[in-house]
Amino acid sequence: MLAARSDDVPLIETSHDLGRTATQARLDEAGATFADGIQVCWTALQHVVGDRNGCFEVQGTETTRIQQMSDLTGRLASLYPTQGPPALLLSGTLMHRIKGIHPGQDTQHKLQPLGRLAGMRVLDTATGLGYTAIEAADAGAEVITVEWDPAVVDMERRNPWSAGLFAHHAIDRRQGDIAEVIETFDDNAFDRILHDPPVFELAGDLYGGAFYAQLHRVLAPRGRLFHYVGNLDSPSGIRVSRGASRRLGEAGFGDVRLQPDAFGISARL
Ligand SMILES: C[S@@+](CC[C@H](N)C(=O)[O-])C[C@H]1O[C@@H](n2cnc3c(N)ncnc32)[C@H](O)[C@@H]1O
Repeated sequence: MLAARSDDVPLIETSHDLGRTATQARLDEAGATFADGIQVCWTALQHVVGDRNGCFEVQGTETTRIQQMSDLTGRLASLYPTQGPPALLLSGTLMHRIKGIHPGQDTQHKLQPLGRLAGMRVLDTATGLGYTAIEAADAGAEVITVEWDPAVVDMERRNPWSAGLFAHHAIDRRQGDIAEVIETFDDNAFDRILHDPPVFELAGDLYGGAFYAQLHRVLAPRGRLFHYVGNLDSPSGIRVSRGASRRLGEAGFGDVRLQPDAFGISARL
C-alpha cells in the first residue's frame, strides 16, 4: 500500500487478515479504506512496515504487535509473518517450518504420513496455532487438541488463520499439559495421533518413554502416529530421531520409520 501510494495508484488488491483473504483498498491522503469500510492511516502502516518480524493489529492510528508474555512459561509468544499463514514464535524459537516452505505446506507434510483422516478420531497433542487440528477436521476427522500455554491460546484467538479452531464443530479444544491430559483418555481412544511438540530442549518429557507409552495406550489397533522431531539431516535431528525411534519401539509401536520430508517419524500399532 505504501509503494502504491508513492506511485499514485488509487486502488489496489491487498489483504487485512494476514493474507488469508484478498480485498481491495482505496488509497487517499488519509490512508487506506478497505472494501468493508475498515480504515487505517499511513502512520500506522509505516510503523508496521518498520518491523518485518512481527504481525500487527491496526486500529485507526494505533498499532499493536501480536504477542503475549506467558505467565506460565515466561516465554514471549508472537506471530511471525511468512508467505503463507504466520508461524508461531516462542521466545525466539519457531514452532513451524519457514525455510523454503510456509506453515500451511508444513501442515500438509505433517498430516501426510497419517493417511486417511475422514471419519478418524484424531489426537493432536499440541495445538499451537491449530493448523494441524483445522486441516484434520477439514479432512473429516473428529479432533481433540491440547494446548498448555495460555499465551499461545491468545495467539490463536488473534490469528485470522486459526479461526477454524473456534468455529469447527469437529474440534474439541482442551487446555492443559498433554502429559497429564492424556491420562484422562480411554485405552484405544484414537485412530490417529499427530504429536508435534516443541523442540526437545523445550519439552524433553514429550519425547520420553513414559509419554510414548501413553501414546501407545490411547492409540487403537491399526492406528497411526506421526511424531514431528525437526530436520532429520541436522545434528540435533539425527540425535533426537535416533533416541525417539528407539523409545517408540520400546513402547510397543511397530513400523517405526523416518519421514525426512515431514521432518519426523511415523509409527503404527
Ligand atoms: C510445534 S507447536 C504445535 C504446532 C501445531 N501443530 C500447529 O499446527 O500450529 C507446539 C505447541 O506445543 C505447546 N506445548 C508445549 N508443551 C506442551 C504440553 N506439555 N502440553 C500441551 N501443549 C504443549 C506449545 O505451547 C506450542 O504451542
